Amino acid sequence: MYAKCIISAFVVLASIAAVAADEGSMTLNDGPDAALTLARCIVCHSADYIQMDSVFLNKAGWAAEVNKMIKVMGAPISEDDATKIVAYLAHYYGVD
Ligand code: HEC
Repeated sequence: MYAKCIISAFVVLASIAAVAADEGSMTLNDGPDAALTLARCIVCHSADYIQMDSVFLNKAGWAAEVNKMIKVMGAPISEDDATKIVAYLAHYYGVD
């Protein structure tokens, strides 16, 4: 019983370590402005969020998302860059 406890504790710790080691994706689909998007967006989090939301966001959705990152989260992105990023995301990660 005691040994079994130790083993399950180890299994739990090992899976926590595995999650912690996964720092998320830091790459995006190749395309114009991929580097710009990556540079502006992974300041605060990995590119996984982009991947995650790509299953339901269209161009308008991405525009709102990028706008939220700027207005609500305080992302330092110029209007010019935001336009390019939205176009890139809509094309490579949009549903339409
Ligand atoms: C200033 C920091 C910051 C920057 C820069 C930033 N984000 Fe975020 N982003 C956040 C925070 C904070 C969250 C919420 C995280 C959470 O809820 O765990 C988030 C969440 C998200 C999500 C998940 C959906 C949501 O709305 O919570 C997406 C998609 C996303 N960001 C995309 C982007 C994109 C695209 C860029 C580049 C244009 C970007 N982020 C740049 C801070 C930032």
